[in-house]
Amino acid sequence: MSVLPFHLLPEHATIDAEGELAIGGLRLTDLGAEFGTPLFVYDEAHLRARCREAVAAFGDGVAYASKAFLCRAMARLVHEEGMKIDVASGGELFVALAAGVPASRCVFHGNNKSVGELTMAIEAGIGTIVVDSFDELDRLDALVGPGGPLDAAAPQRVMIRVTPGIEVHTFDEVQTGQEDSKFGFGWRSGAAKEAAARAQASAWLDLVGLHMHIGSQVFSADNFAHAVEIVAPLARELDLAEFCVGGGLGVAYVEGEEGATISQWGRAVREVCVAAGIAGKVTAEPGRSIVAQAGVTLYTVGTIKQLEGIRTYVSVDGGMSDNPRPVLYGSGYETFLPRAVGAERTATVRVVGKHCESGDVLVRDGVVPDDLSIGDILCTPVTGAYGHSMGSNYNKVLRPPVVFVNDGVARVVVRGESFDDLVRLDAE
Ligand code: LLP
Repeated sequence: MSVLPFHLLPEHATIDAEGELAIGGLRLTDLGAEFGTPLFVYDEAHLRARCREAVAAFGDGVAYASKAFLCRAMARLVHEEGMKIDVASGGELFVALAAGVPASRCVFHGNNKSVGELTMAIEAGIGTIVVDSFDELDRLDALVGPGGPLDAAAPQRVMIRVTPGIEVHTFDEVQTGQEDSKFGFGWRSGAAKEAAARAQASAWLDLVGLHMHIGSQVFSADNFAHAVEIVAPLARELDLAEFCVGGGLGVAYVEGEEGATISQWGRAVREVCVAAGIAGKVTAEPGRSIVAQAGVTLYTVGTIKQLEGIRTYVSVDGGMSDNPRPVLYGSGYETFLPRAVGAERTATVRVVGKHCESGDVLVRDGVVPDDLSIGDILCTPVTGAYGHSMGSNYNKVLRPPVVFVNDGVARVVVRGESFDDLVRLDAE
């Protein structure tokens, strides 16, 4: 039995006299009625505040990792608030450019950037390419080197991604800093140093910095400190203009969890870098910590199945197609009724989706008020990161719309799919 921990809600969440939850001045039950469910609702002012916090913490150069959540409105918002955008595919770059973000404000990531993607990025005038492999260095030589098709006026700015070779405390799928990784150049093997030397020796590449990323949903400041200390000797030796510590700051999803703020993270990371003698500008590329808590998902309860002595299943109208994280990583979420946000949650239920799989679980052991009933709008908070972006059309379930709310106004930034959209790409 517990009440929803309110600190998990977006910043501009309020409870009115009837006990209803509003975000950005709009009741969630009204939003569900107006736009239908499932529905992603983002507190726009919260998003903007996190971007500003990141810029204040790291200065110009800090990038939003757009894989966490991207649409044109989000790219525009991030750009307006002064962050760069980290794109990790031609598709993410396309969306950023389509939003009007200058390519020079984009940072291009990925362990297997194709010749086509690199060409697209360079032709658009990409700010920085974070080089991930020797094969990519070969590709860049062939593209922008002498005789290459993209003979650029100025050398292409690149960074070298270093794998620090440490294991951090998070779930396996999102660990990226360990030696046994598909990402980046190992430090211990000397590969990172060799790659940096190669980039520095090249007349058509401008090595501006080192990059590392140890993983995602990392709560321990020690993990970042440890990685920085490992990469520091190389950073000192190369003495480059920038040192990017990647993303990965953990956020609270459920009761009992508490993450550091972006400001605290920035301060801690910068202190470690200074102590380690890194002279360049320290930057970062947070994704989750910008968007996770700004977003919530609304569902409608469709069936309630009570299995005596076993459990109660509450089925909602979305599921693993709008939030695959519980299935993929066993991630936990809270759940509550926006019509009675402060109510004691006395019943334990399993919130499941509508897909044809038993594994289609949204909240494994959710707690809800006793009077939960069919037709109720149910909300899962902290779904702003890696939900919409990793969503799918499984079972041809329609992708939900996304609305940004602010000061009593809701605007649709991604429209919900229609059945027609489901056959849009069918060739016959
Ligand atoms: N930079 C790089 C190079 C990355 O690979 C990532 C995330 C980030 C920055 C942003 O990390 P964040 O601040 O969001 O933790 N789908 C998983 C998370 C995968 C993260 C992939 N890379 C999840 O839902 O938890």
